[in-house]
Amino acid sequence: MILITGAAGFIGGNFVHHWFERRAKLGLPPEQVVVFDKLTYAGNPATIAAQLKSGEATLVHADIADRDAVRQALQQYQPRAILHFAAESHVDRSIHGPGEFIHTNMVGTFSLLEESRAYWMVMPEAERAAFRFLHVSTDEVYGSLSDTDPAFSETTAYAPNSPYSASKAGSDHLVRAYHHTYGFPTLTTNCSNNYGPYHFPEKLIPLMILNALEGKPLPVYGDGLNIRDWLFVRDHCEAICQVLEKGRLGETYNVGGKNEIKNIDVVTTICRKLDALRPKESGRYEDQITYVTDRPGHDRRYAIDPTKIEREIGWKPAESFETGIDKTVRWFLDNTEWIDTVRSGAYRDWINTNYQGRQA
Ligand code: NAD
Ligand code: TYD
Repeated sequence: MILITGAAGFIGGNFVHHWFERRAKLGLPPEQVVVFDKLTYAGNPATIAAQLKSGEATLVHADIADRDAVRQALQQYQPRAILHFAAESHVDRSIHGPGEFIHTNMVGTFSLLEESRAYWMVMPEAERAAFRFLHVSTDEVYGSLSDTDPAFSETTAYAPNSPYSASKAGSDHLVRAYHHTYGFPTLTTNCSNNYGPYHFPEKLIPLMILNALEGKPLPVYGDGLNIRDWLFVRDHCEAICQVLEKGRLGETYNVGGKNEIKNIDVVTTICRKLDALRPKESGRYEDQITYVTDRPGHDRRYAIDPTKIEREIGWKPAESFETGIDKTVRWFLDNTEWIDTVRSGAYRDWINTNYQGRQA
């Protein structure tokens, strides 16, 4: 049994799908998962409805900062590993309200570490030796690159620029310290921007797909020349499985898809794909592109050097951006029920908060 925090979210939810599909493919018995999730606006049990229904996954609806709830879940389910995905994850929300980011990403990670360490310390020796705490983090902790800087490696100095990335950097430091000080068996992954099915439509790619289909403006921040290094979410999930199996304790691994793309090129790629798959009655989707006021403190470029994970672990992404974006756009065209479920009143409030004040 493994315990996954934040598995009703985008990456954690995809991870639950990947976990069972991968084990079946490798001929391994299905190993149950406990989903520990607060079900914030970003947590949608609909994403893992099949696994919850089959009993492969069990949901504990609680906050990682609630130490009693964490302790109780660990005692009840006795996991062999904890995979920590839970976080507040959207940079724009962290600009409007950083408090929740400190609560979940820093205080929550601290609480989880404390309770996990107490649980691990009294485990029987063989189980204790096999136990793992895998912390899922981001490349945003390294700050912003210029066009000519080398990509982020595991030794790049931390320089977070947003309340989101600062809170993730804080959580990474805590994880590091728990290994260094207590010998707690941690693994950390820092990955680049993910995209794929079940992506919450506040983030660039799903927002653009849905706005395009609904005839709304496609709001590109600033000059649209910021660069992100896109990673298909299932490639990330596979990387996490392999780091869990083969990672060296206390190490960090950067995970990236070698897909550095300017935002404007991401948006036009989506538009052209939609022109082909769901043509408009007149005009093209690109006509909806609108440049809007930039994000404050907007990081210019992220890029990951994945040499370490490729060499030590043997992981490589299976998808190119072309194949991954094709799967993603098709998934959003085919899954309108899921989209309707996640776009609640709270979602509409956020869209007003973030976009109403931006000048076109
Ligand atoms: P998400 O926002 O889609 O999902 C977060 C999940 O965590 C939700 O299910 C939410 O309900 C849950 N959660 C939030 N606060 C909680 C709390 N206090 N207690 C318990 N559960 C809580 O996020 P995501 O995009 O799936 O990201 C997962 C992890 O990957 C995060 O740690 C994020 O920092 C990291 N990451 C994401 C990306 C990306 O492109 N999405 C890139 C790099 C790293
Ligand atoms: P996002 O998906 O929020 O991820 P992150 O900020 O963590 O990289 O944004 C990806 C890029 O797209 C980022 O440079 C900001 C930009 N962006 C827009 O131009 N318009 C938007 O409406 C959003 C949400 C993002």
